[in-house]
Amino acid sequence: MSRVAYVNGQYRPHGQATVHIEDRGFQFADGVYEVWSVFDGRLADFDGHMTRLHRSLDELRIDIPMSREALTRVLQETVRRNRVTEGLVYIQVTRGTARRDHPFPPEGTPPSVIVTARSLPVSKGNAAAAKGVAVVTHPDIRWGRCDIKTVGLLPNVLAKQAAKEKGAAEAWMVDEMGLVTEGSSTNAWIVDADGVLRTRDSQSNILRGITRAAVLALVESEGLTFEERAFSVDEAKQAREAFYTSASGYVMPAVSIDGVKIGDGKPGPVATRLRELYLNQARRDAI
Ligand code: PDD
Repeated sequence: MSRVAYVNGQYRPHGQATVHIEDRGFQFADGVYEVWSVFDGRLADFDGHMTRLHRSLDELRIDIPMSREALTRVLQETVRRNRVTEGLVYIQVTRGTARRDHPFPPEGTPPSVIVTARSLPVSKGNAAAAKGVAVVTHPDIRWGRCDIKTVGLLPNVLAKQAAKEKGAAEAWMVDEMGLVTEGSSTNAWIVDADGVLRTRDSQSNILRGITRAAVLALVESEGLTFEERAFSVDEAKQAREAFYTSASGYVMPAVSIDGVKIGDGKPGPVATRLRELYLNQARRDAI
């Protein structure tokens, strides 16, 4: 079946789904995006992602392209038209199309909106999670507003490629203090040598992951000891468990960091349990 994308008011086959060459997303990475996971054709963690999308737009002073209700319908319709039952839906909103010039375009320039959806069976992720994945570390060379989900992802792309070239699934980015910030497209977690679950605090320069927030709520309801406190690469390598969270990977156990085995080299019980809890909840609450 051919895929269909929403582009500025129209649903089009991918081959004909195009934006203008002077779209500011293309020229300046002047845009934001959001990703929802899809279960049974429904969007998970819906409000969290929608609220973050609006926050990203506000922070960059990009006009809200349409009402929340209209946007919800477009997201759901794109999923439906692509017959995605398990997968991802992606939205990108840019500051629109205008002659290339760095300042904002004239007031009233409509933002560009594109939405795509694709299948990604949960069973594929489950197979990776059952074995656990490899992580490598990489310097964090990003800007100071990583809390905004912008399409300016070049440092993330380079980090993920470095991971891929080393046979790893993810790169954990490391700041100048030797502390892990987050993954190239995920949030990083460990169960440290003392058994404390840790993830970097969301006030620092990281993306405030929606899956991270959902998992933190589960951690609290399970009564696990946790701290939102940064950890070093050394602490991660000595941890009992390591894992990462995102809309595309849910909760993914990491079994090595830079080739160093974590714990006994198998997915740990905390990560495995949190994955199960998260998937159950996300499925149940999807809309
Ligand atoms: N990535 N950190 C970064 C840098 C990310 O790009 C993402 C999401 C996350 C996890 O956030 P969430 O739990 O809200 O998905 C953390 C998406 C999935 C992507 O770029 O495809």
